[in-house]
Amino acid sequence: MVKICCIGAGYVGGPTMAVIALKCPKIEVAVVDISVSRIAAWNGDQLPIYEPGLEDVVTQCRGRNLFFSTDIEKHVAEADIVFVSVNTPTKTQGLGAGKAADLTYWESAARMIANVSNSNKIVVEKSTVPVKTAEAIEKILTHNSREIKYQILSNPEFLAEGTAIQDLFNPDRVLIGGRETPEGQKAIQALKDVYAHWVPEDRIITTNLWSAELSKLAANAFLAQRISSVNAMSALCEATGADVTQVSHAIGKDTRIGPRFLNSSVGFGGSCFQKDILNLVYICECNGLTEVANYWKQVIKVNDYQKNRFVNRIVSSMFNTVSGKKIAILGFAFKKDTGDTRETPAIDVCKGLLGDKAKLSIYDPQVTEDQIQRDLSMKKFDWDHPIHLQPMSPPASKQVSVVWDAYQAAKDAHGVCILTEWDEFKTLDYQKIFDNMRKPAYIFDGRNILDVEKLREIGFIVYSIGKPL
Ligand code: NAD
Ligand code: UGA
Repeated sequence: MVKICCIGAGYVGGPTMAVIALKCPKIEVAVVDISVSRIAAWNGDQLPIYEPGLEDVVTQCRGRNLFFSTDIEKHVAEADIVFVSVNTPTKTQGLGAGKAADLTYWESAARMIANVSNSNKIVVEKSTVPVKTAEAIEKILTHNSREIKYQILSNPEFLAEGTAIQDLFNPDRVLIGGRETPEGQKAIQALKDVYAHWVPEDRIITTNLWSAELSKLAANAFLAQRISSVNAMSALCEATGADVTQVSHAIGKDTRIGPRFLNSSVGFGGSCFQKDILNLVYICECNGLTEVANYWKQVIKVNDYQKNRFVNRIVSSMFNTVSGKKIAILGFAFKKDTGDTRETPAIDVCKGLLGDKAKLSIYDPQVTEDQIQRDLSMKKFDWDHPIHLQPMSPPASKQVSVVWDAYQAAKDAHGVCILTEWDEFKTLDYQKIFDNMRKPAYIFDGRNILDVEKLREIGFIVYSIGKPL
């Protein structure tokens, strides 16, 4: 029986291993983490992350061939394949601060593997890492190896939050990179055999290590670039009277461009797009490729521009000041169907409005008040350094209240901002919302999910990204 251990029970480690356990009943899978509370949640009724379909998969396998544990050393020592799925945040200090990936958590996991192993192992990079990380990991492992043989594979994860289970059940591709030696190829085959339980063989791509590591950064950079491209167009649409949804539809019909991932928005968020592009920029700079670095930097600049533009639009529409005005924020997560707020555009928009002294009333169906208050008081990049961060909540801001109902958020408000595209926001009773708001009543739709004409008929002043005013 093959034994798998995954270090890191987060958004990637938890769902990925749960699906492996479900699809491979003969493989024993242990997911380990230093966070006692996270492991307790994985073992309890309230899983630590909200992801459609996840609970069902976990309940089917937990205790059978899927285990969550803090006994890291025991499970690593017993495993044949060790996945490392720890966080790889942007460095906040020292060389490369603000761009380079911080591999502290990765390195400590690798050192621990070297210390506790007493049998040969395949070590799999599941986290997103800079190109050539495998070389560094190999050095750490082999310098402490005591005759134990390690094969390092790169197997980056492409799931998106909110659709993680669907993506894992039916991936566009699984990518495995390894050494081009007989031992390397044997290790690739062993991992391929795991995925082959449910992924068709022609969707399992194998490459060398560096191509696999770089492909992950490249995929996220291309996806984010698409959003910045459509968001850049949205600004031009507003200036010219074109409608960005019509433009997206028209260009998406070209099969070379394709229709997906062309929704203009208040900006992309999530734990990875910005982090991974910054990481890519840093790698380019280290290799003396200034033009290439500048090209990718621009994707982030346009994203920041889009968020600022949204805030400026709100403030300028409301007679150039939102001081003391109540503004309802509908949606705080970085996209629908997740409670994840990492790098959500809502943080920048809220901070921008708070900077102009607005009073915010925030509602999100999946995000807690504690999380929102913490996000709004945290420094940029600090959110992904959980080991240094203390679990203590900051003092609640008097300018921010968090409520559990969209109608309550909008009551007596001057404006409503849609920052996450939750389905329930499409079917709210906007007449009721209008009746209970201050006049003139504004709606700023940062996700283009509302029917602008209907809202205007009710009496709202509506701003929708990339649409005629
Ligand atoms: P996460 O923060 O949710 O989970 C990481 C976990 O690793 C945490 O629970 C942390 O306590 C644990 N950890 C850190 N150091 C440890 C150690 N030494 N030993 C044991 N546990 C340790 O992060 P995530 O969102 O799951 O992302 C993990 C990696 O996967 C990142 O590199 C990310 O870029 C990449 N990725 C994320 C997504 C996504 O949708 N979130 C998708 C694809 C790839
Ligand atoms: C993204 C990638 O899609 C995954 O393939 C990748 O594995 C993952 O990053 C990662 O490496 O972490 P994720 O961030 O979970 O997944 O979610 P996306 O659906 O990509 O959305 C990212 C952001 O872009 C969200 O804020 C979303 O609202 C925004 N977005 C997305 C748009 O503004 N417009 C679109 O058309 C699509």
